[in-house]
Amino acid sequence: MARFAPTDLTVLMVGRGRILVVDDEEQIARLLTRALNRDGHEAEFATEPREALERIRQDSFDLLVTDLRMPGLTGLELIEAARKHHPTLEALIITAYASAESAVDALRHGVADYVMKPFTTDQVRDAVRRALAARERRKNKEKAIVDLTSRVETASADLERRVADVSFLHDLTRLIAGRKAPLRNCLALLRGHFSGSAVVLTDKERVTTWEGDPDPHELVPIALRARREESPVHAPCGLGYGVAAPFEDGAVAVARERSFDGADLQLLEIAGRDLALAVENDRLRAEHRHAYVAIVATLIEAVEAKDRFNKGHSRRVAALARNFAERLRLPLREREILETAAKLHDIGKIGIPEEILNKPGRLSDREFQVIQDHPTIGERILAPLDFLAEIRPIVRHHHERWDGAGYPDGLSGEEIPHPAAVLAIVDAYDAMISDRPYRRGLSPSQARDILQSGAGTQWDPDLIQRFQKI
Ligand SMILES: [Fe+2]
Repeated sequence: MARFAPTDLTVLMVGRGRILVVDDEEQIARLLTRALNRDGHEAEFATEPREALERIRQDSFDLLVTDLRMPGLTGLELIEAARKHHPTLEALIITAYASAESAVDALRHGVADYVMKPFTTDQVRDAVRRALAARERRKNKEKAIVDLTSRVETASADLERRVADVSFLHDLTRLIAGRKAPLRNCLALLRGHFSGSAVVLTDKERVTTWEGDPDPHELVPIALRARREESPVHAPCGLGYGVAAPFEDGAVAVARERSFDGADLQLLEIAGRDLALAVENDRLRAEHRHAYVAIVATLIEAVEAKDRFNKGHSRRVAALARNFAERLRLPLREREILETAAKLHDIGKIGIPEEILNKPGRLSDREFQVIQDHPTIGERILAPLDFLAEIRPIVRHHHERWDGAGYPDGLSGEEIPHPAAVLAIVDAYDAMISDRPYRRGLSPSQARDILQSGAGTQWDPDLIQRFQKI
């Protein structure tokens, strides 16, 4: 059976190399080059160190086989200069003037081997094989280190991401379990985690709520597609890329400039299942709120019904407020808050004696003081209901005046909550056009004249200007 000597194996393993032989004795250079080419290497030679350096600069060699003593540049100087261009170039020295010092010097220069003249070509061929094998091993080792480093980096980036994902889900679950958190907070969390520009939540066919700027309507078709296909969707959209995941009664979608990957989709799917709970919570809360508001509104109507002059006032004010808020292009949520506040704004009148409320003549100062308590009484009635928290300040301040002469707090100008300033106008307008025990209702144009004359004193002048355009 054929056996391989170690050197044969090395040749098999490392293959061939690009070799430059440098010796000022041309005969030797030629001889070596021929022998190396016969071994399958790609060898060439130079007799001038300067010329050799020039070739190294322009070409790429694996190995430099150089004489030590040459006119112009020594072999070691040549190696040093060559490595400035090719730091990984392997080098082998051939010399007739070997000494311990020159050997040490050669090693210091990172020379792979040292062959003494006179030599046999076999000695040089072996040294070349060993040098190339050493070079190959070094390259493999470096590559393995680079691979390993990049694997470790990828793994730790992955791990970091997983940790961030888990902590996001944890926060989301906690938020939802808290129950008080509106859906919008969940969406804000989602948007933050994905660095998204917008988040949309839909029910079966339309947007329920969203977070983001600009208006994320671009994302709606993607959300609805996920809902229809009952699986996650990743698609380009006007905001960059959108990703959507369906859940029980709807879908959630996020948009951002850069695209998403499989892990993002997976995470959104899990978050979607959590959101289903939040949606359900939110629906129950909304039902609860509507039921409560309806009950309170009925109460108010009952109070108002006792007085033919006030009958239907709150319902009319609510309709006017809704209309005005639309013209003002207030965000949908603020419109809803304003309309509810308008329905409930006089709830405090429940606490005012009927004979004062329905007194046919003008009120005495004392009676007027009692009437002035109704906004604070109203605020107190609503206080235990945290889902009406946004309504309370509007109810409290709907009788403030722009010039600060109103009640209960004498707020002025911008201090007055904006929805309260809006409500004050529609409230006054409806009161003016309604009949009073002591006068008939004014015509709309008369009422508008009075509003105009009170712009900047009783009412917000900017709002009056806009009300007049309705
Ligand atoms: Fe009022």
